[in-house]
Amino acid sequence: MRYVVLGLTLVAALVVSVLGFRGDTSRKPPLEIFPDMDRQPKLRPQEPNALLPNGRSSQFLVEGTVARGTPFAAIPKNTGRVLGVTNFVETLPMKITSQLLARGRDRYAISCLPCHGAQGDGNGITKKIGAMAVVANLHDARIVKLPDGELFHVISEGRNLMGGYRANVTIDDRWAIVAYLRALQRSRLAFEDELSTAERAQLK
Ligand code: HEC
Repeated sequence: MRYVVLGLTLVAALVVSVLGFRGDTSRKPPLEIFPDMDRQPKLRPQEPNALLPNGRSSQFLVEGTVARGTPFAAIPKNTGRVLGVTNFVETLPMKITSQLLARGRDRYAISCLPCHGAQGDGNGITKKIGAMAVVANLHDARIVKLPDGELFHVISEGRNLMGGYRANVTIDDRWAIVAYLRALQRSRLAFEDELSTAERAQLK
């Protein structure tokens, strides 16, 4: 019996010397039998990191990122208007690429061509069959001069006799159509320095 008591005392002393008293503070890392998933490899913000191409663990925001909770109308891309005023944005809020133009051409053919015609001059099928009497000619000088944001607005909300296509055409596609519309208009226009001297003389 004496040896049992002695043995238990020794074991208790050993456990306390290795593990310490409950509530003790220690600078050594704790003994962990089951670490679960407490420690995992991860990137900390603001630290260098060789894995990512620019060597940073914090990456830049993706272009076009908006803060959570930003109201829909507070983003010019959604409305075509400059933030805080009712003016329309002058130019597309995105880069013009051949893909964007191709998409715009595709969407124009679906949503606009039946009325405005393949060339945009307002001679679509709806006029030929008499369903619509007058359809705007998109090469009209007044329409050419409209800011990009206003064209976006017309597509979204409609104007006068034309209905809005907000429900049928996504925001990105509406801008793609605006880009294609500009290309269509440009096809019938020239800058003065593109003209021959004879043509320029005719202008005067
Ligand atoms: C159902 C026929 C129809 C379709 C489809 C249609 N439009 Fe129109 N659009 C019209 C008519 C009609 C007008 C002239 C409205 C008026 O002034 O009364 C017009 C006017 C316009 C104008 C001139 C607005 C202004 O300031 O006078 C633009 C720009 C335009 N449409 C672009 C588009 C684009 C881009 C699409 C494709 C997304 C489209 N339209 C689809 C019938 C249509």
